[in-house]
Amino acid sequence: MKHGVVTGSSRGIGLATIKLLSNQSNFKVIGSSTTGNSSLNHSNIKYLKLDLSSSDSIAQFVKSLGDVKLDFLINNAGILIEKWDASNINIQQLKQTFDINLFGTIELTEKLLPLFNSNGHIVNITSDWGSFSEQNFDAFQPHYKMSKAALNMYTKLLAKRLENKPITVSSLDPGWTQTDMGGKVAPRLPEDVASDISRLLNDNVKSGQFWHRGKVRAW
Ligand SMILES: NC(=O)c1ccc[n+]([C@@H]2O[C@H](COP(=O)([O-])OP(=O)(O)OC[C@H]3O[C@@H](n4cnc5c(N)ncnc54)[C@H](OP(=O)(O)O)[C@@H]3O)[C@@H](O)[C@H]2O)c1
Repeated sequence: MKHGVVTGSSRGIGLATIKLLSNQSNFKVIGSSTTGNSSLNHSNIKYLKLDLSSSDSIAQFVKSLGDVKLDFLINNAGILIEKWDASNINIQQLKQTFDINLFGTIELTEKLLPLFNSNGHIVNITSDWGSFSEQNFDAFQPHYKMSKAALNMYTKLLAKRLENKPITVSSLDPGWTQTDMGGKVAPRLPEDVASDISRLLNDNVKSGQFWHRGKVRAW
Protein backbone atom coordinates (compact mmCIF):
# COMPACT_ATOMS: atom_id res chain seq x y z
CA MET A 1 0.00 0.00 0.00
CA LYS A 2 1.33 3.46 -0.94
CA HIS A 3 0.35 6.45 1.21
CA GLY A 4 0.69 10.01 0.01
CA VAL A 5 -0.49 13.60 -0.19
CA VAL A 6 -1.93 15.51 -3.15
CA THR A 7 -2.20 19.23 -2.35
CA GLY A 8 -4.88 21.36 -3.99
CA SER A 9 -7.15 18.41 -4.72
CA SER A 10 -10.52 20.18 -4.37
CA ARG A 11 -10.68 20.78 -8.13
CA GLY A 12 -8.78 20.68 -11.42
CA ILE A 13 -5.67 18.53 -11.82
CA GLY A 14 -5.45 17.68 -8.10
CA LEU A 15 -9.03 16.40 -7.97
CA ALA A 16 -8.53 14.24 -11.08
CA THR A 17 -5.29 12.89 -9.61
CA ILE A 18 -6.78 11.95 -6.25
CA LYS A 19 -9.71 10.23 -8.02
CA LEU A 20 -7.38 8.22 -10.26
CA LEU A 21 -4.97 7.20 -7.49
CA SER A 22 -7.72 6.25 -5.01
CA ASN A 23 -9.21 3.88 -7.59
CA GLN A 24 -5.94 1.93 -7.62
CA SER A 25 -6.28 -0.49 -4.71
CA ASN A 26 -2.66 -0.01 -3.58
CA PHE A 27 -3.02 3.76 -2.95
CA LYS A 28 -4.31 5.67 0.11
CA VAL A 29 -4.36 9.42 -0.49
CA ILE A 30 -4.65 12.49 1.72
CA GLY A 31 -6.02 15.45 -0.19
CA SER A 32 -6.15 19.10 0.71
CA SER A 33 -8.49 21.99 0.15
CA THR A 34 -8.40 25.46 1.67
CA THR A 35 -11.76 24.75 3.38
CA GLY A 36 -10.97 21.18 4.47
CA ASN A 37 -14.13 20.05 2.63
CA SER A 38 -14.34 17.62 -0.26
CA SER A 39 -16.96 16.38 -2.71
CA LEU A 40 -15.37 12.90 -2.65
CA ASN A 41 -16.41 10.07 -0.38
CA HIS A 42 -14.03 7.12 -0.81
CA SER A 43 -12.47 4.77 1.73
CA ASN A 44 -8.98 5.43 0.25
CA ILE A 45 -9.27 9.22 0.59
CA LYS A 46 -9.07 11.61 3.52
CA TYR A 47 -9.20 15.42 3.13
CA LEU A 48 -7.47 17.90 5.40
CA LYS A 49 -7.52 21.68 5.48
CA LEU A 50 -4.41 23.38 4.10
CA ASP A 51 -3.67 27.01 3.30
CA LEU A 52 -0.15 27.21 1.92
CA SER A 53 0.00 30.95 2.61
CA SER A 54 -0.09 30.24 6.37
CA SER A 55 2.71 28.61 8.39
CA ASP A 56 0.14 27.80 11.11
CA SER A 57 -2.07 25.99 8.61
CA ILE A 58 0.92 24.04 7.23
CA ALA A 59 1.95 23.02 10.77
CA GLN A 60 -1.63 21.96 11.62
CA PHE A 61 -1.85 19.93 8.38
CA VAL A 62 1.38 18.07 9.20
CA LYS A 63 0.22 17.48 12.80
CA SER A 64 -3.10 16.09 11.54
CA LEU A 65 -1.24 13.47 9.50
CA GLY A 66 -0.23 11.80 12.77
CA ASP A 67 2.33 9.01 12.48
CA VAL A 68 1.61 8.14 8.84
CA LYS A 69 4.62 7.22 6.68
CA LEU A 70 4.56 8.79 3.22
CA ASP A 71 5.48 7.25 -0.13
CA PHE A 72 4.64 10.28 -2.26
CA LEU A 73 3.86 13.98 -2.18
CA ILE A 74 2.30 15.75 -5.16
CA ASN A 75 2.85 19.49 -4.71
CA ASN A 76 -0.02 20.47 -7.00
CA ALA A 77 -1.72 23.44 -5.28
CA GLY A 78 -0.98 26.72 -6.99
CA ILE A 79 -2.37 30.09 -8.01
CA LEU A 80 -2.24 32.30 -11.09
CA ILE A 81 -3.72 35.64 -10.06
CA GLU A 82 -2.42 38.03 -12.69
CA LYS A 83 -4.26 39.00 -15.85
CA TRP A 84 -3.34 36.95 -18.94
CA ASP A 85 -1.99 40.05 -20.75
CA ALA A 86 -0.23 41.74 -17.79
CA SER A 87 3.55 42.02 -18.00
CA ASN A 88 4.34 44.66 -15.36
CA ILE A 89 5.52 43.63 -11.93
CA ASN A 90 3.02 44.11 -9.12
CA ILE A 91 4.97 43.48 -5.90
CA GLN A 92 1.89 42.58 -3.88
CA GLN A 93 0.86 39.95 -6.46
CA LEU A 94 4.44 38.71 -6.76
CA LYS A 95 4.61 38.14 -2.98
CA GLN A 96 1.16 36.51 -2.87
CA THR A 97 2.09 34.15 -5.72
CA PHE A 98 5.46 33.22 -4.20
CA ASP A 99 3.81 32.71 -0.77
CA ILE A 100 1.71 29.85 -2.14
CA ASN A 101 3.50 28.49 -5.23
CA LEU A 102 6.97 28.55 -3.67
CA PHE A 103 7.37 29.41 0.04
CA GLY A 104 4.36 27.45 1.31
CA THR A 105 5.10 24.54 -1.01
CA ILE A 106 8.70 24.36 0.20
CA GLU A 107 7.71 24.77 3.87
CA LEU A 108 5.26 21.88 3.59
CA THR A 109 7.78 19.68 1.74
CA GLU A 110 10.55 20.30 4.29
CA LYS A 111 8.15 19.48 7.15
CA LEU A 112 7.04 16.24 5.44
CA LEU A 113 10.54 14.99 4.54
CA PRO A 114 11.08 13.19 7.90
CA LEU A 115 7.84 11.25 7.33
CA PHE A 116 9.03 9.66 4.09
CA ASN A 117 9.50 5.92 3.59
CA SER A 118 12.38 4.75 1.44
CA ASN A 119 11.57 4.81 -2.29
CA GLY A 120 9.43 7.92 -1.79
CA HIS A 121 8.66 10.33 -4.62
CA ILE A 122 8.08 14.09 -4.45
CA VAL A 123 6.49 15.59 -7.58
CA ASN A 124 6.42 19.37 -7.95
CA ILE A 125 3.78 20.46 -10.45
CA THR A 126 5.39 23.37 -12.26
CA SER A 127 4.80 24.56 -15.81
CA ASP A 128 6.20 25.28 -19.23
CA TRP A 129 5.72 28.83 -17.95
CA GLY A 130 8.47 28.17 -15.40
CA SER A 131 10.97 26.80 -17.89
CA PHE A 132 13.90 28.56 -19.54
CA SER A 133 13.33 26.63 -22.75
CA GLU A 134 9.74 27.75 -23.44
CA GLN A 135 9.04 28.25 -27.13
CA ASN A 136 7.07 31.45 -27.90
CA PHE A 137 8.36 32.99 -24.66
CA ASP A 138 6.68 36.31 -23.82
CA ALA A 139 6.73 38.79 -20.93
CA PHE A 140 3.24 37.96 -19.62
CA GLN A 141 2.39 36.30 -16.26
CA PRO A 142 5.78 37.31 -14.74
CA HIS A 143 4.88 36.49 -11.12
CA TYR A 144 3.61 33.00 -11.92
CA LYS A 145 6.53 32.25 -14.27
CA MET A 146 9.13 33.29 -11.67
CA SER A 147 7.42 31.20 -8.96
CA LYS A 148 7.44 28.07 -11.12
CA ALA A 149 11.02 28.64 -12.31
CA ALA A 150 12.11 28.87 -8.66
CA LEU A 151 10.14 25.71 -7.81
CA ASN A 152 11.96 23.92 -10.65
CA MET A 153 15.27 24.94 -9.07
CA TYR A 154 14.03 23.58 -5.72
CA THR A 155 13.39 20.24 -7.49
CA LYS A 156 17.00 20.20 -8.73
CA LEU A 157 18.43 21.27 -5.37
CA LEU A 158 16.36 18.80 -3.33
CA ALA A 159 17.19 15.95 -5.72
CA LYS A 160 20.88 16.77 -5.28
CA ARG A 161 20.55 17.04 -1.49
CA LEU A 162 18.78 13.66 -1.33
CA GLU A 163 20.90 11.87 -3.92
CA ASN A 164 22.20 9.38 -1.35
CA LYS A 165 18.71 8.81 0.06
CA PRO A 166 16.07 6.70 -1.66
CA ILE A 167 13.73 9.65 -2.34
CA THR A 168 13.07 10.73 -5.94
CA VAL A 169 12.26 14.38 -6.69
CA SER A 170 10.66 15.40 -10.00
CA SER A 171 9.09 18.43 -11.65
CA LEU A 172 6.13 17.90 -13.93
CA ASP A 173 4.79 20.28 -16.58
CA PRO A 174 1.11 19.36 -17.12
CA GLY A 175 0.69 21.34 -20.35
CA TRP A 176 -2.24 23.70 -20.88
CA THR A 177 -5.17 22.00 -19.14
CA GLN A 178 -8.95 22.64 -18.80
CA THR A 179 -9.37 23.81 -15.20
CA ASP A 180 -10.39 26.98 -13.40
CA MET A 181 -6.80 28.12 -13.95
CA GLY A 182 -6.39 26.92 -17.55
CA GLY A 183 -9.86 27.87 -18.82
CA LYS A 184 -12.27 25.96 -21.04
CA VAL A 185 -10.43 25.82 -24.37
CA ALA A 186 -7.19 24.20 -23.19
CA PRO A 187 -6.27 21.06 -25.17
CA ARG A 188 -5.61 18.77 -22.19
CA LEU A 189 -8.05 17.40 -19.62
CA PRO A 190 -7.24 17.13 -15.90
CA GLU A 191 -7.59 13.34 -16.30
CA ASP A 192 -4.77 13.34 -18.91
CA VAL A 193 -2.44 15.00 -16.40
CA ALA A 194 -3.60 12.67 -13.61
CA SER A 195 -2.51 9.73 -15.82
CA ASP A 196 0.91 11.36 -16.33
CA ILE A 197 1.29 11.80 -12.55
CA SER A 198 0.15 8.24 -11.80
CA ARG A 199 2.58 6.82 -14.39
CA LEU A 200 5.43 8.83 -12.89
CA LEU A 201 4.64 7.48 -9.41
CA ASN A 202 4.46 3.90 -10.66
CA ASP A 203 7.70 4.08 -12.71
CA ASN A 204 11.20 3.85 -11.32
CA VAL A 205 12.69 7.10 -12.64
CA LYS A 206 15.92 9.02 -12.17
CA SER A 207 15.67 11.87 -9.65
CA GLY A 208 15.96 15.56 -10.57
CA GLN A 209 14.23 15.56 -13.93
CA PHE A 210 11.50 17.66 -15.57
CA TRP A 211 8.61 15.65 -17.08
CA HIS A 212 5.96 16.38 -19.68
CA ARG A 213 3.50 13.82 -21.12
CA GLY A 214 5.59 10.89 -19.84
CA LYS A 215 8.91 12.14 -21.25
CA VAL A 216 11.83 14.09 -19.83
CA ARG A 217 11.79 17.67 -21.15
CA ALA A 218 14.28 20.57 -21.10
CA TRP A 219 14.29 22.85 -18.05
N1 LIG B 1 -4.31 24.37 -15.81
C1 LIG B 1 -3.21 24.58 -16.52
O1 LIG B 1 -3.25 24.86 -17.74
C2 LIG B 1 -1.85 24.43 -15.86
C3 LIG B 1 -0.72 24.50 -16.70
C4 LIG B 1 0.53 24.36 -16.12
C5 LIG B 1 0.66 24.15 -14.75
N2 LIG B 1 -0.44 24.09 -13.97
C6 LIG B 1 -0.26 23.85 -12.52
O2 LIG B 1 -1.02 22.72 -12.13
C7 LIG B 1 -1.40 22.85 -10.75
C8 LIG B 1 -2.91 22.64 -10.63
O3 LIG B 1 -3.56 23.64 -11.38
P1 LIG B 1 -5.10 23.61 -11.78
O4 LIG B 1 -5.16 24.10 -13.17
O5 LIG B 1 -5.71 22.32 -11.40
O6 LIG B 1 -5.62 24.79 -10.83
P2 LIG B 1 -7.05 25.11 -10.18
O7 LIG B 1 -8.14 24.36 -10.86
O8 LIG B 1 -7.12 26.57 -10.10
O9 LIG B 1 -6.91 24.48 -8.69
C9 LIG B 1 -5.98 25.02 -7.81
C10 LIG B 1 -5.91 24.22 -6.54
O10 LIG B 1 -4.94 24.85 -5.68
C11 LIG B 1 -5.55 25.05 -4.40
N3 LIG B 1 -5.08 26.25 -3.74
C12 LIG B 1 -5.24 27.55 -4.13
N4 LIG B 1 -4.75 28.38 -3.19
C13 LIG B 1 -4.28 27.60 -2.19
C14 LIG B 1 -3.68 27.87 -0.94
N5 LIG B 1 -3.47 29.13 -0.49
N6 LIG B 1 -3.32 26.83 -0.16
C15 LIG B 1 -3.52 25.55 -0.56
N7 LIG B 1 -4.13 25.23 -1.72
C16 LIG B 1 -4.49 26.25 -2.53
C17 LIG B 1 -7.04 25.16 -4.67
O11 LIG B 1 -7.76 24.85 -3.48
P3 LIG B 1 -9.21 25.51 -3.15
O12 LIG B 1 -10.17 24.97 -4.18
O13 LIG B 1 -9.52 25.01 -1.79
O14 LIG B 1 -9.05 26.97 -3.28
C18 LIG B 1 -7.23 24.15 -5.80
O15 LIG B 1 -7.42 22.87 -5.26
C19 LIG B 1 -0.95 24.24 -10.32
O16 LIG B 1 0.27 24.15 -9.62
C20 LIG B 1 -0.77 24.98 -11.63
O17 LIG B 1 0.17 26.03 -11.54
C21 LIG B 1 -1.72 24.23 -14.50
